[in-house]
Amino acid sequence: MSSNKNVDLLVGAQWGDEGKGKVVDMLGSEVDVFVRFQGGANAGHTVISEGQKVVFHLLPSGMLYPGKLCVLGNGLVIDPEQFLAETSELFNKGQDRARLAVSPHAHVVMPYHKMLDKLQEEARGKGRKIGTTGRGIGPCYVDKYSRSGLRVEDLLNPDVLRDRLTYILEEKNQLFTKLYNQKPLPFDEIYEPAKKWGEALAPYVADTRALLRKAVDDGQHILLEGAQAALLDIDHGTYPYVTSSSTSAAGAFTGTGLAPNDLTRVIAVVKAYTTRVGEGPFPTEDFEEAGEILRKNGGEYGATTGRPRRCGWLDIPALKYSMELNGATVIALTKLDVLTNMGGIKVCTAYELDGEKITSWPTDTRVLSELKPVYEILPGWNEDITNCKTFEELPANAQAYVKYIEQMLNTPVFLIGVGADRNQTIVR
Ligand code: GDP
Ligand code: IMO
Ligand code: MG
Repeated sequence: MSSNKNVDLLVGAQWGDEGKGKVVDMLGSEVDVFVRFQGGANAGHTVISEGQKVVFHLLPSGMLYPGKLCVLGNGLVIDPEQFLAETSELFNKGQDRARLAVSPHAHVVMPYHKMLDKLQEEARGKGRKIGTTGRGIGPCYVDKYSRSGLRVEDLLNPDVLRDRLTYILEEKNQLFTKLYNQKPLPFDEIYEPAKKWGEALAPYVADTRALLRKAVDDGQHILLEGAQAALLDIDHGTYPYVTSSSTSAAGAFTGTGLAPNDLTRVIAVVKAYTTRVGEGPFPTEDFEEAGEILRKNGGEYGATTGRPRRCGWLDIPALKYSMELNGATVIALTKLDVLTNMGGIKVCTAYELDGEKITSWPTDTRVLSELKPVYEILPGWNEDITNCKTFEELPANAQAYVKYIEQMLNTPVFLIGVGADRNQTIVR
């Protein structure tokens, strides 16, 4: 085993949309291989470079760098229509897509998964719905684990596809007709496009585990790009208000076939305040004017669904939990510029429940919904920081905020976002 490994894992530390895409893109010039390992087109990772904005849903955010290897690992659920739309869009912009490798073991999001996602949400009704992205993620992972899924490799062989789909569709049609009062899906309406997707995907399919193994052992710089974030993790998040994959560090291994001792660094992406989209507990959500200002100044509208994101303050117990789960070695702190002109900056350091003080993240989702945050208020700043290039150029109170976070989370902040553009980043 080589000792010159250079493998970064980048994960979201809150409820998603921390700015992972921007950080991946910003680090990209030094990276050889970009990898997505879980989730699917529920992600929306925004990259803005030289005024050009691209939102990646399935493809790694390093796709704008020509000539580098981009990998979709086995842990993903791939919507072929989305995949083809994203690759064509890049191709039309003159980007090369030759060095894109897709695992044959990734699961395929089929039209019936997207239909089920919507029907299940409707059936859950008010107060129970999760607020999913409607991208078929949950139903596709359910099929994976119940061993009724279609993998990318199944699309490549029409006979295998026909055989598996015949059985799967019979089962799905029972659900559609008997439980959801819908019309059955005709076999050919699913089979024929799926066969074509297989033909279109075929040139990209490769043994991604072996490719990555070799790249790691050759000392190439690998960047594993997590989607969603720790608090949306299927096991460790605010269940049931979570996504259906392992979004924290552990998912990187099952989702690629790499091993835990391959990692050299874990980058936790932390937004300088907190947002959440969809339902579920969010102790530091601000329902007053500040929440609205954060939404407006931070442009907090979903990159996938366009939904307004719920906004609030930094939550230290939540972040400590997230640092532990991920084994974070460094923090990329994003959107510090959005806090400019906010007046005092609230930071939640503990919670109160029935007159008792709680300093750690409660794992019971029902408890989380009833907590009252205890805030410390740090002094803000009014200077425009969007052109700052060094830490020392930041106003003293902005510097103090960064140092406060480092101290509370016992993890160094190595990168600070002061704007959405690739260049609006301070490296320390
Ligand atoms: P991701 O899902 O974690 O990749 O994040 P999104 O792309 O969904 O949302 C982050 C949003 O914030 C995008 O619109 C980015 O362009 C933007 N963004 C990222 N970093 C910064 C930053 O440091 N400052 C500002 N103002 N915007 C940022
Ligand atoms: P990125 O990678 C923010 C949320 C949805 C919903 C829950 C389940 O851009 O940070 P799903 O469609 O996955 O079954 O929805 O998870 N969610 C995200 N929230 N950012 C994301 O991705 C998200 N992906 C899913 O809003 O609450
Ligand atoms: Mg996003």
